[in-house]
Amino acid sequence: MRVGIVGSGRLGVPLGRLLSMAGHDVFFSDADPARVEAATLAADGQARGGSPLEATRFGDVVIMAVGWEAFPAVVADLGGTLSGKIVIDPSNPIAERDGLSVVVAVPGGLTSPQYQQRVLGADVRLVRTFNTKYPRELLELGTAGQRGGSRADMPYWGDDDEAKKAVMPLIEDAGFTAIDGGGLSGAR
Ligand SMILES: NC(=O)c1ccc[n+]([C@@H]2O[C@H](COP(=O)([O-])OP(=O)(O)OC[C@H]3O[C@@H](n4cnc5c(N)ncnc54)[C@H](OP(=O)(O)O)[C@@H]3O)[C@@H](O)[C@H]2O)c1
Repeated sequence: MRVGIVGSGRLGVPLGRLLSMAGHDVFFSDADPARVEAATLAADGQARGGSPLEATRFGDVVIMAVGWEAFPAVVADLGGTLSGKIVIDPSNPIAERDGLSVVVAVPGGLTSPQYQQRVLGADVRLVRTFNTKYPRELLELGTAGQRGGSRADMPYWGDDDEAKKAVMPLIEDAGFTAIDGGGLSGAR
């Protein structure tokens, strides 16, 4: 599958690496081209890289691996390119203040992916997953699963059943056991 990744930071790089190792066609992007270059190297040269706009156009599935607070501006920058796409949102409502991570309140009494869905627009096919592990843990557990070791569970949530069906094999290919957590209203 063609996977575009927007945000080549702590989470985007190991996730893209796992998917690239599984044979998916991964395209890294970031606001900083140096991070894109490092990400493609970390994926053993199998992945491509470019701008966020190119990544979203490239992907059958787009992973939005940017920080919670940057998310609305990144979506606005991408304009309509996410329209109709399957988007994986691995985010948690966490912001950085003076170098510390703090949990922020999600507006409107929504779950965090319900809020992201509102930011993205109703025509974006959102699936929340890959948000429950730290990056190093994600890489270690995923690699172990890919090599035939025991597999860790990876929950996923969404309101679009077809989008969930498309994302489920990606979770399995990344080395995890995909666990359907239900709709966005029950998501973490
Ligand atoms: N790190 C974790 O432990 C962890 C665990 C689970 C889930 N997550 C989730 O994963 C997501 C990414 O977190 P992270 O820790 O990987 O953050 P990160 O290390 O800060 O990476 C985010 C990347 O996105 C880039 N970016 C910012 N604005 C952009 C734009 N307009 N276009 C393209 N790229 C842009 C950032 O660049 P700049 O640095 O230059 O702004 C940075 O390289 C977040 O939603 C987070 O909640 C993280």
